[in-house]
Amino acid sequence: MRLAILVSLLFAAHAAQAQSAADSIEAEKRMYLEAIAKQIAGNENKPAAEVFKNIKMMKDNTARRLLNIMNFGFSRSLGVGCTHCHVANDWANDEKATKNVAREMAAMVQTINQKLLPEIEGLRAKRPTVNCTTCHRGEVQPALSMPPR
Ligand code: HEC
Ligand code: HEC
Repeated sequence: MRLAILVSLLFAAHAAQAQSAADSIEAEKRMYLEAIAKQIAGNENKPAAEVFKNIKMMKDNTARRLLNIMNFGFSRSLGVGCTHCHVANDWANDEKATKNVAREMAAMVQTINQKLLPEIEGLRAKRPTVNCTTCHRGEVQPALSMPPR
């Protein structure tokens, strides 16, 4: 009986810890996104490459859309904050390997969607699509096996 209470308390503590880590990532992301929004105020709908300094792949996107991809497409899909890929407040800097990995991942996704999936016959979707979430599902390392049930 006591053991069961202890186990459930530990479990609750663990869940609370995970939740507060997620909350602090969210708070940090909000802080950075608000600071950038101020810097680019009035230019949100211009091409990202005109507004930012080091755009190699997202040339077809507006600045606003780039920030949405950063927030939802990238950070949320991988379950990380901005500084997983960026030197904080030095967004154009390419020093972190993860930033370049992300560029190569985006190229891989493009090849899968534009070349490999269309070659498979008999799929249900008209335009079968994968994105970062398809593999990452909130984790840096995609799963290779089903979670135990
Ligand atoms: C998974 C890695 C990853 C995460 C997480 C990420 N970014 Fe990025 N970010 C990139 C990549 C890659 C580029 C370059 C895009 C390109 O070359 O077109 C970029 C570009 C940028 C740029 C343009 C910088 C410039 O001047 O060229 C800004 C601003 C930016 N990110 C902000 C953020 C913010 C804010 C967050 C968190 C909400 C974030 N990023 C999360 C990978 C990431
Ligand atoms: C087909 C599955 C798949 C898709 C889709 C995918 N990834 Fe990945 N990603 C992986 C695998 C596998 C790894 C390697 C994990 C490891 O190192 O064990 C990885 C690793 C990464 C890493 C390195 C993380 C680290 O900290 O080491 C980044 C960053 C990343 N992916 C970003 C992205 C982004 C951004 C997208 C969407 C544009 C994306 N990935 C889409 C499978 C995928």
